[in-house]
Amino acid sequence: MVQASYHFPRGFLWGTATAAHQVEGNNTNNQWWQWEQTGHTNGTSGLACDWWGGRWREDFDRAAEGGQNAHRMSVEWSRIQPTPDTWDEDALEHYRLMLRGLRERGMTALVTLHHFSDPLWLYEQCGWETEAVIPLFEKFVRKVVGALKEYCTLWCTINEPNVYALSGYVAGTFPACNKGLNIAMRVQANMLRAHAAAYRAIHEIQPESRVGYALHYRPMKAKNAWSPLDVWMRNIQYNGINMAFPSAISTGVMKSPLGSVRIPEAKGTQDYLGLNYYSVDTVKFDITNPNEMFGRRYYPADSDLSTTKFIANIPEGIFDSIKWAVRTYPNLPILITENGVEDAEDKMRPRYIAQHIHQVWRAVNFNFPVKGYFHWSLVDNFEWERGWTQRFGLWALDLETQKRTKRPSADLYAEICKENGLTSEMVQKYCPEVFDKLFPV
Ligand code: FCB
Repeated sequence: MVQASYHFPRGFLWGTATAAHQVEGNNTNNQWWQWEQTGHTNGTSGLACDWWGGRWREDFDRAAEGGQNAHRMSVEWSRIQPTPDTWDEDALEHYRLMLRGLRERGMTALVTLHHFSDPLWLYEQCGWETEAVIPLFEKFVRKVVGALKEYCTLWCTINEPNVYALSGYVAGTFPACNKGLNIAMRVQANMLRAHAAAYRAIHEIQPESRVGYALHYRPMKAKNAWSPLDVWMRNIQYNGINMAFPSAISTGVMKSPLGSVRIPEAKGTQDYLGLNYYSVDTVKFDITNPNEMFGRRYYPADSDLSTTKFIANIPEGIFDSIKWAVRTYPNLPILITENGVEDAEDKMRPRYIAQHIHQVWRAVNFNFPVKGYFHWSLVDNFEWERGWTQRFGLWALDLETQKRTKRPSADLYAEICKENGLTSEMVQKYCPEVFDKLFPV
């Protein structure tokens, strides 16, 4: 049997990613909590992973013992600014404690300032739909960065603005005030303006900071490459879903299916690109689906599908995503800010991890500037509209007892982090079914 290893450069960041509303529990003052109480989600976030109750300590211990040297977490706006005119200094102190906890464990912090949740007071004035949000977000960011700058220099302004806008304002699976593609695009334009304002504010407060955002990047391919309709539809979907933020940050003009919007202040406002990669969509033209602009995105029947069929295991897609990023922004550092799969039984996850990390390694070996990888996620957490039906954790969570149980993937990931690489022994031990793919002879 082949004995070999794929090693990463020294200083590579290995971590997991989490988001405040998904792990903290009792976030009663944001729009998600309200949405959950009115029956829109599969269960409610409740106590979640009880991080606000202090269980972040034991979970950070798990991460550190598992060899992770970094962690991506987010702060909850509705806790820090419970009303437009009040700041909760205790909440900020709580985050300082958490960040100090990371530092004490030798882990680099990446802090996300907005990860899908909005304070109720903002939501009640229709949040990101109007430009009023821009100075409000900037004010919030200034407050947070001022308070936390001692412990963090790596910031993510907004998580997946495309998913936030399209899930809420088009699909209706996330809470949203009004609906329509035009509103979704307006929301993304406001997010871009707010991101640009935040980018400048953070640099002003902390000149050594590195600031970016996390893009949910969805590679797509046409069902039939010979079909002009499929190819056309693939391009519409691909640009519509992926390109609002990247286009504006490249050129100062946001491209959208409804036309272009000039946002000159957004140009060049990133010090790294955060990539959230999960899977690749196949796209076909479908006259019966007007809700999605007459396109349908799906996974082919022969895909390696996760338990709830939410994700197809397509590891080359992460390589293609990184390649796209390098071509779009030469020399810009790239962080994989999310990658993972829902898999309560941990049947697919070990191979998903090994295969994706192998593809990241390939990218690094092309000298593509990938600087870190954050697995989604550390512990099972509240998965938005899908609630508790999807289990993304390296560790399983029993909601009733708050007990954590280690999945084999946690051990595999720990071995990878400690080795700063992936070896043939690991693959043989955790996912022998892909051994020949990863170590061909
Ligand atoms: C991403 C989100 C993250 C989590 C994963 C599974 O879209 O950023 O919060 O829900 O998907």
